[in-house]
Amino acid sequence: MSKKTIVLAAVVALAITGCAKEDTSTTTESGVPLIEAGSLTTCTHLPYAPFQSKDSSGKVVGFDVALIDLVAAKLGVTQEIVDTPFEGIKSGADLNSGKCDVAAAGMTITDERKKVLDFADPYFDATQALAVQTGKEVKTLEELAGKKLGTQGGTTGEDYVKKQVEEKKLDIEVVSYKDLAALQQALATNQIAGAVNDLPVWNEYIKANPGKVVVSAGFDTGEQYGFAVKKGNAELLKAVNEALATARSDGKYDEIYKQWIGEKPAA
Ligand code: ARG
Repeated sequence: MSKKTIVLAAVVALAITGCAKEDTSTTTESGVPLIEAGSLTTCTHLPYAPFQSKDSSGKVVGFDVALIDLVAAKLGVTQEIVDTPFEGIKSGADLNSGKCDVAAAGMTITDERKKVLDFADPYFDATQALAVQTGKEVKTLEELAGKKLGTQGGTTGEDYVKKQVEEKKLDIEVVSYKDLAALQQALATNQIAGAVNDLPVWNEYIKANPGKVVVSAGFDTGEQYGFAVKKGNAELLKAVNEALATARSDGKYDEIYKQWIGEKPAA
């Protein structure tokens, strides 16, 4: 066999195995491409209550889940949720490789992420907050000098902390955890003196575990969450935006907000 033939054989073999997994991608009647017929596949990173987490039966529920369910209903399909590390979500890798159609992960819209993802209209406003063990309240990051401060890997909270530590030359050891559960566990078991994450997730944690930790400081980072699609997927982006706009006008958004977040702050 010549070298060329071998290369060709390899390419053919690859093509055959590539087809082995049945291609079930489809386009809805309204022209929205989906990676799997009948489903709107969502990438998220669990747990991130109240936006997405498993309930006692193992079902993934939350604010984001309820909103994306509206998009799925509009498309006449059902939402399927894939739990995957945040890094692949925010880098666009998961959407680009066809792991999912949409990313819904309490994800903040940032200029850097906008380069690799197409964000739908903002659906939630958030800030960062410092949580500490009850009774050990500190009001500023400065007071954590000589101590360990936990963050969640790849998040805007981590970026914020690292920037503060660098700019203010703070003597703080920043410890990065792979997900929210690991960060909260570390704080609850005194492995770190404080932890920074989005305010609503601390509020939710404190509701579920009263007395353990308190929010002792807030940082007004003025963040907005956005659902994201693969760059260039204008059809799905439009469907997401339309579903959000409908939910905002027909009261569904407020209902979901009340169910998962609580009373809406006065505008
Ligand atoms: N809002 C933060 C960010 O975008 C944290 C999001 C983490 N989300 C998650 N599902 N793990 O960086």
